[in-house]
Amino acid sequence: MFQQKMDKTYETKLLRVDRKGFSDSVLNEACELLKKGELVAFPTETVYGLGGNALDKTAASRIYAAKGRPSDNPLIVHVAEKEALFSVGREVPEGAVRLTERFWPGPLTVIVKKSEIVPKTTTGGLDTVAVRMPSDEIAMSLIKQSGLYIAAPSANASGRPSTTRAEHCMEDLKGKIPLIIDGGPVPIGLESTIVDLSSERPLILRPGFITLEQIREIIPEIEYDPAVIAREADKNAVAKAPGMKYRHYAPRGELTVFEGSPEKVIKRINSEIAEKRRHGFKTAVLATEESIAYYNADIAESLGRRTDEGEIASHLFEMLRKFDDEEADFIYAESFFSPGVGRAIMNRLLKAAGYNIITVSD
Ligand code: TXA
Ligand code: MG
Repeated sequence: MFQQKMDKTYETKLLRVDRKGFSDSVLNEACELLKKGELVAFPTETVYGLGGNALDKTAASRIYAAKGRPSDNPLIVHVAEKEALFSVGREVPEGAVRLTERFWPGPLTVIVKKSEIVPKTTTGGLDTVAVRMPSDEIAMSLIKQSGLYIAAPSANASGRPSTTRAEHCMEDLKGKIPLIIDGGPVPIGLESTIVDLSSERPLILRPGFITLEQIREIIPEIEYDPAVIAREADKNAVAKAPGMKYRHYAPRGELTVFEGSPEKVIKRINSEIAEKRRHGFKTAVLATEESIAYYNADIAESLGRRTDEGEIASHLFEMLRKFDDEEADFIYAESFFSPGVGRAIMNRLLKAAGYNIITVSD
């Protein structure tokens, strides 16, 4: 694995696209850049993407360089019609077709064997390719109008929380790409569910807004990749060595997640806060509408109502970035385990925390 170097610097433009009747001039400019092998950040319904021509090795290398991403971490190829799965993929299994019929366009990525046209630079050296058809109208127009397949990882600097607003892309990518299309805040706020259908055993590699239960309706034998489960179940073991290996989406302050009954969690977090404040540290809490008023932190942020998983999901990355902006030293988060979207929320939160979770018992 090696790190690509930037080949030039840019005066990054941030151009707003009004969703009501969006301006062709911004889209035209974006398409021209993409066709020349340059990169453009753009909104999707999940998070902002950092796009480049998926079939152009140089463009793909630029993506790794701009993000500071190791070049063995593959990119997702974004397409504008379902049939494209057969041009970037090969030996596409029936399950993949049925999944895309049900969930595309939308927050679902499928992994299949790659066809010859996709360079290995795009797939991080793998013989498989991840493909997604987004539902966001700006993303769709960009793909259609450029006539390209667009490789796009989340538009954040490697290791930082994904970007849910154009301003976040500017924070991370200023000077590194020529254009960011501002389409406002994204609706979902967590990256797509990734389903690997490239081998005998279909697996969910990353939980997302489309849940295991929904995918099971189409592929009854679908399971989580043992790595997704193992990391969650084995959190205590991992927490002992919160290695860089698992660090992702990480805020700069030290993030700890607490699980247990609401009263006990509030009490425990407040005692941690008191201790840290005595030593002059800046403390932050990530809570919900129901509990936010009970905390004594320097910064207290609510993700939304606990019962509204969509709302919680849509604010998670934004709040993690806010704690960085406000230079929080210690961040304490409530937990959000649930069978549905809560699975994806906790997956991101635990990664951000380096699997640092404490169970508050009696
Ligand atoms: O919602 C999303 O999926 C967003 C938006 C922009 O579409 N994109 C996104 O891309 O989250 P990225 O690169 O941040 O995450 C893609 C994940 C990575 O963890 C990568 O390792 C995995 O997908 N991936 C991509 N291709 C793969 C492959 N062929 N096999 C296994 N994992 C793959
Ligand atoms: Mg990412």
